[in-house]
Order: sequence, then structure tokens, then C-alpha cells
Amino acid sequence: MELGCRVLAGLLVLLGLWGLSAAEPVKFKDCGSESGNLTTVDITACTSLPCQLHKGKTYGVNVTFVSFTASETSKAVVHGIMAGVPLPFTLPNDDGCKSGIQCPIRKGQQYNYINSLAIKEEYPSVKLVVQWQLKDDKSRDIFCWEIPVEISS
Ligand SMILES: *[C@@H]1O[C@H](CO)[C@@H](O)[C@H](O)[C@H]1NC(C)=O
Ligand SMILES: *[C@@H]1O[C@H](CO)[C@@H](O)[C@H](O)[C@H]1NC(C)=O
Repeated sequence: MELGCRVLAGLLVLLGLWGLSAAEPVKFKDCGSESGNLTTVDITACTSLPCQLHKGKTYGVNVTFVSFTASETSKAVVHGIMAGVPLPFTLPNDDGCKSGIQCPIRKGQQYNYINSLAIKEEYPSVKLVVQWQLKDDKSRDIFCWEIPVEISS
């Protein structure tokens, strides 16, 4: 009887924790979203910070935001910030309109920006901050977020 209760309690705790980590989007720093409201940033398998990114793997990025502006275009700009120095990172696809967003972007509408981050084998094993911006056709940030990551093999 008592054992049964303990097992049940343990199971409930486990389920509760699992539920939390699965539902909780990762905490991000908003680095100045000007023409949009950033709500969530979801990175595959990242439930705690820094995100553990492994070489040879590709991670999905899903950003939910509401645009405050109408825009014909959107362009993603990504930097890796190491020791305070932002280094440009070339995305294979920097066109937001080809990353889950149907353009033109409409004012007041919610969107999901979908892209992926491939961690190449030749990357160094470092901790850094990923800064991801999406710029509207006037070059203002629709969103800007920063998340600390750790790259390892
Ligand atoms: C941004 O969205 C949050 C909810 O997701 C809301 O509480 C907040 O008021 C919004 N901010 C603006 C400036 O619209
Ligand atoms: C992105 O996140 C939204 C909101 O959580 C979800 O509805 C949507 O299915 C996700 N898209 C992808 C491609 O994962």
C-alpha cells in the first residue's frame, strides 16, 4: 500500500517534470525587437541554458512573433558573440519569406519563423551567444533574440 503510493507519487513527479520541460520554451534575451513582439523561441532539444549543441547535428529554430509593421521582405541576420565580439554567421537561407513566413508581412499578424542551425564538425568547441535578428524592408528589427549556447562534439 505504502509502496504503491510512493511509486504513484514518484510517477506523478516525473510526469510533472516532463510536462514542464516539454512545454517550457527557452528563455531568451530580447535584444531590441523594434517592429514586432517576440513571444517564444523554440530550439530543438534545448530545454535549459546554455543550449547544448552537438557537432554534426542540425537544430530546428521556431520563433513566434507578432509583426507591428507591414513589410514586403524580411531578412535574417545571425551573429555568434564571443567575448563580447559579434562575428557574422552566414545562413544558407537568410530570406525570412522562405522560412515559414508568408510575405508580404502584415501588421498585427502572428507568424512563425522556421529555420535550422547546422553545427558543422569543423566548428570549435566553445560557449557563445547566438544573436538572431529578422529585419523588415526598412532594416528595422522585427525581432532580435540572444541565447547562450555551448558547442561540443
Ligand atoms: C507582447 O506580447 C505579450 C504576450 O505574448 C503581451 O503581454 C505584451 O503586451 C505584448 N507587447 C506589446 C508591446 O504588444
Ligand atoms: C512552431 O511553433 C508553433 C507554436 O508553438 C507551432 O504551432 C508550430 O507547429 C511550430 N512549427 C514547426 C515547424 O515546428
